[in-house]
Amino acid sequence: MSSAFGLDIGGSGIKGAPVDLAKGELAAERVRFATPPGATVADIADIAAQVVATFGYTGLVGAAFPAVVIDGRARTASNIDAGWIDTDVAGTLSETTGCDVVPVNDADAAGLAEMRFGAGRDVLGTVALLTLGTGIGSAVFVDGLLLPNTELGHLEIGGADAELKTADAARERDDLSWEHWARRLSKYLRHFEALLWPDLLILGGGVSRKADKFVPLLEGVRTKVVAAQLQNGAGIIGAALWAAETRQPTARN
Ligand code: BGC
Repeated sequence: MSSAFGLDIGGSGIKGAPVDLAKGELAAERVRFATPPGATVADIADIAAQVVATFGYTGLVGAAFPAVVIDGRARTASNIDAGWIDTDVAGTLSETTGCDVVPVNDADAAGLAEMRFGAGRDVLGTVALLTLGTGIGSAVFVDGLLLPNTELGHLEIGGADAELKTADAARERDDLSWEHWARRLSKYLRHFEALLWPDLLILGGGVSRKADKFVPLLEGVRTKVVAAQLQNGAGIIGAALWAAETRQPTARN
């Protein structure tokens, strides 16, 4: 399979584009529609269909989804409507888009794309990607193999869910300076690395475009920290890769 469509479903926007799987690149400019407040099942399913229809696409679709996804079903809902819990995401989106849709956790999708085509390419050992956005997503790889559905953005630090204080949305909500946010992020990363001892930490999410503003300010983090390279495209590219490899398992070898 040389191409598939990638959807990236988030708390603030739903993005999509066809993906060239061999190059790990978007095959056309992506489109983005805002996610209606509340992020309900009906609204997201409707907008996802509009994104796919913009391209007149009818083939295989991978959907990066901001929750634990097991056997096509969402099992959690932190930044989307609670009605998603136990919803058959694959079935719902396949019905509205008219395509075969394979959902995957959004951080796992972004991590897969970074491992194949970005900052984690050819890196062995334990690599963790953290997406800093509305929430914090995590993807953990050992020698390039994914441990799916890790939820390490929800580590409890000082009695609070880390993503509530440390996600990029918290930086914006609390109007934090880069210095202040870097202190919160450092605390989180120190906790994270003390539990996982990764060889490399990749920071993703939209804010990774501004990595030069906060990565140099990190304090006491012993792991090598780099910015994601695919940035906005990572979720879309990784979701398309995931779908293609799920439907054609031998492509992994
Ligand atoms: C969710 C994760 C998701 C992350 C990024 C967290 O709140 O629990 O599943 O990967 O947000 O969207």
